[in-house]
Amino acid sequence: MKIAAYRVFLKVHQATTRTYVGASSNPSLSTPRSEAANLGMNADEFRKAAHAAIEEIIQYNQDVASGTLPVLPNIKPGYLRPQLPAAAPQHPQSWQDIQPDIAKSIVPGLTHWQSPNFMAFFPACSTYPSILGEMYSSAFTAPAFNWLCSPACTELETIVLDWLADALHLPKDFRSDSPGGGGGVIQGSASEAIVTVMVAARERYLNRRADAKGLPDPSPEREEWIATLRPKLVALSSDQAHSSTAKGAIIAGTYHRTVETTWQDDLAVQPDALESTIKKCIEDGREPYYITLSYGTTSTCAQDPLHLLAPILQKYPDIWVHVDAAYAGTALVCPEYANASTSASPSNSNGTIPTPEGLPTNGTEQPPPNPPPPTQPPLPSPTGLLPTGPAVWSHADSFNTNLHKWLLVSFDASLLYIRSRHALTSALSITPAYLQNKHTDSGLVTDYRDWQIPLGRRFRALKIWFVVRSYGVEGLRAHIRRTVRVGQRLEALVRQSEDGRALFEVLSKPAFGLTCFRVRPGAVPRQLLAQGGVVEGPGESVETENTMDGSPFGTVEQQDGEEEGQAEKAKAQPTETATAENLANKFSKQVVETINDGGQLFLTSSSTHGKTFIRVVSGNANAGEEFVSKAFEMVVTTTREVLRQAVKESRG
Ligand SMILES: Cc1ncc(COP(=O)(O)O)c(C=O)c1O
Repeated sequence: MKIAAYRVFLKVHQATTRTYVGASSNPSLSTPRSEAANLGMNADEFRKAAHAAIEEIIQYNQDVASGTLPVLPNIKPGYLRPQLPAAAPQHPQSWQDIQPDIAKSIVPGLTHWQSPNFMAFFPACSTYPSILGEMYSSAFTAPAFNWLCSPACTELETIVLDWLADALHLPKDFRSDSPGGGGGVIQGSASEAIVTVMVAARERYLNRRADAKGLPDPSPEREEWIATLRPKLVALSSDQAHSSTAKGAIIAGTYHRTVETTWQDDLAVQPDALESTIKKCIEDGREPYYITLSYGTTSTCAQDPLHLLAPILQKYPDIWVHVDAAYAGTALVCPEYANASTSASPSNSNGTIPTPEGLPTNGTEQPPPNPPPPTQPPLPSPTGLLPTGPAVWSHADSFNTNLHKWLLVSFDASLLYIRSRHALTSALSITPAYLQNKHTDSGLVTDYRDWQIPLGRRFRALKIWFVVRSYGVEGLRAHIRRTVRVGQRLEALVRQSEDGRALFEVLSKPAFGLTCFRVRPGAVPRQLLAQGGVVEGPGESVETENTMDGSPFGTVEQQDGEEEGQAEKAKAQPTETATAENLANKFSKQVVETINDGGQLFLTSSSTHGKTFIRVVSGNANAGEEFVSKAFEMVVTTTREVLRQAVKESRG
């Protein structure tokens, strides 16, 4: 199937290549072969090659968008080496020789992130205007580390970042023209943004403490004193924050401690947990200097309630507050996300989803369902959102979001906004003689090298500029809303369809198009609980002496919304409940692995606080409700198969 689909692609590609190779015969367009051009590709050759490449890219995009190419490659590790020569060619090769290797060797080894069947991790969108931006960026290749090294590169970045600060409804303080000296910069990734602000946070903290001690700057005493304080610093984040915070702390040379979250609180940091973590750090002789709060965590899109945490953070004004909104932040382009009602509260958290036509809305012969959704508001309606809006963001020192995840700009384009660019530049600015110039000295220009870790930088503003202009802010909103609806369709199927209600439980508030659900412990066949012994799975293993029997697909009576009964049963049969939990975890992971092994659909599983779950998010430009419906069917079929197989194996 995969090979057949790819053969069609290869044929089209070869036909297109033939059309283009040799198509340009206009002598006025040819470039005289200089000695330099003889060493690579001249303009005529480039023209033909580029046309052929563009045709191939279009064909690839169309094939991928149709969802007919398997989303995961069918190859084994090390597949590529035998296909390529052992050493680099000694002599020039023509594009006619090079290009076919894309179809032959590279595409078969690709995971197709633009496929509508890519529902893993978070999306990484690519669009035509963005590809054009990359083409120009590559053509200009201007590692514009300071203004003079390409004024257009710097100035476009500043303008586009201001556009986006407004489009994302961020506070004016993050604009480059804000009185407080804020601004935005494009980083390669959220991880890079986080480590960059962490270093700025560390330096701000150390210098404030040295200032408070009255140590002259610069002075050897100050340097010594700071050196003794630095090893005590601790960066904080929730236990749900992306691993980039832990990694950033390693790079910044500081401790990292997590604030515990719970499923009951939707995996969001709670004020008392934050305060007790800070106090514990201080009791232990550590000095908290930085915290990552998440607007959309990686596992479940949990949102830390900045508005509730602000009163605690105000007591510790030297802690730098960074909001990591790597994926979900781009939803702020929609006013309904940016102005999420300030009346919303973490306890007012039930998801709101559409009722898809034809789906049952209440149970019949099946066991009690997942909690029913509340009354349906018209779409688009973000689900369970916490207050955002300018007042909330005013507690943040910095904010990052990746346009290259959900907002149609090709990798890489991570926006970092900062309230005080001075905090960044004073930490990262070093100007050796060879970087000095009168424009920098004038103080009238921005040198983005002082806002990042590397010196050189890519011209990434171009692709953002092209995407924003090609879609318009309304087009960007339409994309977010459409893909949120795609996610809501899936959520509705899980919550409301007969299969969904029988097999699965939704674990967290679905948000930003992401739904997290797992095999319901109550759907675990009784025979498996009757096995006894140690259950292996991703959760904690538990000893069980259960001897319960029942029909092959009988279920343990343990459902959402039956807390009282559940607690009683847990008391009566603790090992049985624990076994069902473990097996639900194990089967959820197995369902994802089985599906991914098939290559037609790509999902991710995740695990936290004793629960392993299936996460489905479909947000690229090709996402569609028909694809998530098919994905749901596949999840149901696979789950039934996994359960059936487990029963079969248990019989020996
Ligand atoms: C919330 C969050 N933060 C940070 C990251 C890291 O992103 P990047 O690959 O841009 O470093 C991710 C990746 O998915 C994420 O989900």
